[in-house]
Formats: sequence, C-alpha cells, structure tokens
Amino acid sequence: MPGSLKGRVALITGGSSGIGRATALAFAREGARVVIGNRRVSEGEETVRRVKAAGGEAMLVRTDVTKAAHIEMLVAKTVETHGRLDCAFNNAGVTGDIARTAECTEENWDRTMSVNLKGVWLAMKYEILQMLKQGGGVIVNNASVAGLVGMRGGPAYSASKGGVVQLTRTAALEYAKLGIRINAVCPGFVSTPMTEDHTSANPDLEAWMKKVQPMGRLGTPEEVAEAVVWLCSDAASFVTGHPLVLDGGLVVQ
Ligand SMILES: NC(=O)c1ccc[n+]([C@@H]2O[C@H](COP(=O)([O-])OP(=O)(O)OC[C@H]3O[C@@H](n4cnc5c(N)ncnc54)[C@H](OP(=O)(O)O)[C@@H]3O)[C@@H](O)[C@H]2O)c1
Repeated sequence: MPGSLKGRVALITGGSSGIGRATALAFAREGARVVIGNRRVSEGEETVRRVKAAGGEAMLVRTDVTKAAHIEMLVAKTVETHGRLDCAFNNAGVTGDIARTAECTEENWDRTMSVNLKGVWLAMKYEILQMLKQGGGVIVNNASVAGLVGMRGGPAYSASKGGVVQLTRTAALEYAKLGIRINAVCPGFVSTPMTEDHTSANPDLEAWMKKVQPMGRLGTPEEVAEAVVWLCSDAASFVTGHPLVLDGGLVVQ
C-alpha cells in the first residue's frame, strides 16, 4: 500500500547497491525519509539521486559498518537531520571468499564476520539506543538462507548469517515490551552485483542457482525490498523475531 511508511525516518546500511538500493527506493515510495550508510560515495550518491528523481527524500552518510564510531555517527546524523529513527534495515554485507572450511583463511573469516555480524550488532546497538529514547521503532536485519541451512564453500558467510538470525531473535525478545520490533529477511539467490561478482567468473553458477531454487529463477532486489517494507510497516505490527525466507522455495526442499 503506497504511503505505508508516510512520515517515517528510515535508515539503510549498504544502500549503495543491490538490495539496499532497491529498499531505499521502496521506502521512499512509501513516504519515508531515507538515510543510507555505506563506504562508496559515488554509488551512494547515485542511490540518493534515484530516490530524489522519484520524488523522495534521501541522504548519504559515509559509513563503514565495522567501525562503532561510524555507526554512532550514522544514527546521530539521522536524528540530527530528521529528529528520530523509525525504521532501520541493516543490510550491508559481503560474501567473502568461496573456500571450504579447511581452506578458509583467517583474514577472510575476520573480514566476513566483521562486516556481516559485528556490523549488524553495532548497527542494532546504536539504533536500539535511539529507539528506546523515542519510545519505539522497527529493525530488519538482512541475513540469508545461508543463516538457516549449510552452504558449502561459505563457512564464514554461513556462520555470520546464522549469527544474524540469532541476534535478531535475541534482541526481539529483549525489546518486545519496549515498542521495538526486530525481524530478519533471509533471501535465497538474488540478482545483485554481489551475485554477479561470482557468476561473471563462473557462468555455470548462475544456471545452478536457478536450478536449486524451485521457481527456476533468481530473486530480484525489489522482491526483498517489498518484504522489508512490509516488516517495517504497521501491517506487521505483531511480527517480531521472525526470519522471513524469500527464496523461491529453496529451503523447503
Ligand atoms: N544477493 C544475494 O543473493 C543475497 C542473498 C542473501 C542475502 N544477501 C545479503 O543481502 C545484503 C546486500 O547484498 P547485495 O546482494 O545487495 O550485494 P551488493 O549489491 O554487493 O551490496 C552490498 C552492500 O553492502 C555495502 N557494504 C559492504 N561492506 C560494507 C561496509 N564495511 N560498510 C558499509 N557498507 C558496506 C556495500 O556498500 P559499499 O561498498 O559502498 O560500502 C553495498 O551497498 C548482504 O548482507 C548480503 O549478504 C544477498
């Protein structure tokens, strides 16, 4: 329903690309004022430009989610500009190297955990502190089906996403009576630059991704964005602690 986030202030980490960019556009379409936080300025500004071109309001705060001071600043600038923070989509993430558990390097483990798991926890920490001050809010974390089932060749990625699901459940319980709903989305294979990084080097991989998803195709960033919009909206007012699977049937096989 257009206008489901009318007047709300919405923050997105990793808004410069893929699912984050699609969600920025969807939030703005629903009437939210959008703030994105990511590292690449030109790509982030391109998201801002697209939101404004569609009639919405957006700004970029350059952010590295692995750094507490950056996240604290992202939330502070959001509140300084818009007075509050109603919805947050903690989406920034990396796949890391494709390597089995025994071949995964310590550097890959640390980098993947730092962005995907520590980054989500840090974001939640500062978002929740603000939401407690203002009396409520909604958080959605971007996990993955890899957080629900095993994924060969992605030990750090799977562990980080499983951690995001558990962080989501834990925080949802902690703040359930305090007006803060906290959920996760768990996408299957979605067509974004992250996926293209791998499929461009290995054309058979895209065919395999389509084959393992019973609908026979990749998801789109917009399909994930619509679920995030719904979880942030009042239509999902009794939903908390839920990892919402968006995977064309992948994990029910
Ligand atoms: N595509 C899929 O099939 C799929 C499936 C399941 C889950 N996901 C999850 O969806 C999320 C978005 O992925 P995507 O597919 O949209 O990939 P993408 O197009 O590569 O986007 C990744 C986003 O994360 C940001 N990012 C990475 N490291 C960051 C850091 N240290 N600090 C701040 N921002 C950072 C990037 O921005 P900058 O580079 O500008 O910082 C970019 O905006 C990820 O968490 C991913 O794990 C994706």
